[in-house]
Amino acid sequence: MTRPDMTVEIAGIKMRNPVMTASGTFGYGEEFAEYMDLESIGALITKGLSLKPKAGNNTPRIVETPGGMLNAIGLQNVGIEAFIAKKLPFLRGVNTPVIVNLYGNSLEEYGELAARIDGINEVAGVEVNISCPNVKQGGIVFGTDPDAARQVVELVRRSTTKPLIVKLSPNVTDIVSMAKACVDAGAEALSLINTLTGMAIDLNSRRPVLANITGGLSGPAIKPVALRMVWQVAKAVKVPIIGIGGIMNATDALEFILAGATAVQVGTASFLTPAASQNIARGMENWLAENRVGSLKELVGGLKS
Ligand SMILES: Cc1cc2nc3c(=O)[nH]c(=O)nc-3n(C[C@H](O)[C@H](O)[C@H](O)COP(=O)(O)O)c2cc1C
Repeated sequence: MTRPDMTVEIAGIKMRNPVMTASGTFGYGEEFAEYMDLESIGALITKGLSLKPKAGNNTPRIVETPGGMLNAIGLQNVGIEAFIAKKLPFLRGVNTPVIVNLYGNSLEEYGELAARIDGINEVAGVEVNISCPNVKQGGIVFGTDPDAARQVVELVRRSTTKPLIVKLSPNVTDIVSMAKACVDAGAEALSLINTLTGMAIDLNSRRPVLANITGGLSGPAIKPVALRMVWQVAKAVKVPIIGIGGIMNATDALEFILAGATAVQVGTASFLTPAASQNIARGMENWLAENRVGSLKELVGGLKS
């Protein structure tokens, strides 16, 4: 029997299957090479990169919570120049599209980063993390205000010709208006969701558990919220959606596809099982074969009412 067609295309990036690694949970790729075949997944997304290296927040910066985890890593990364010099050479040898996740703390930083990435052949596309504060304008998070989001996306769009994915923050009341603003500004695909802001308290010490006090909630606990948002956004925009949030196995991933996602990202699951993304891609293919679905594309948005 012929195997199901798992190929998908996101913003012009051709992928062998719809499973990508979520930013910040898969390092720069190389760290996972000894645990899994990096050529078994659809695309690899880097840790969030900034113009300058970032040391991140003080510890403790990770805590387990029921059905998930809270992290306040603080977007620690080597910075774009060290990424190009030290991390990219390894990725050149991997036959899987590499998507660079980028973030800035001002409009200008986003623009400069996007321009810097534009010239790098090995980079298949950019994913813009807009869940960051604009430190120059009172710390408002770009991704919680449609106008601020529009400005970032327009600037990045002008600064690079690379395929442009915008990653939405779930910490908003109206995810659809954020999605529309980003698409109007030039996003060719949307990925959602980033983490939900939360906190944990230690009763005995009467202190917050995280040094940063608040952190981003991820894992199975956020899956119902993520599914709902993917479903809402998929109905409202024409660009492809990448579903993210608590995907631990192939069943979870296929639920996102039914809700309207064309592809998915695996995050927290890689902390528990480093080869989770590879296993999920294989599991999805097996499910399609067992259920006689010839192509994954047939399932996209196929939720029955
Ligand atoms: C430790 C950690 C670090 C993360 N770092 C980033 C990051 O640098 N940029 C980004 O856009 N998202 C980052 N995220 C968010 C994930 O990419 C993903 O959107 C979120 O964790 C939800 O997916 P999951 O439930 O499968 O983990 C991070 C998440 C975790 C747990």
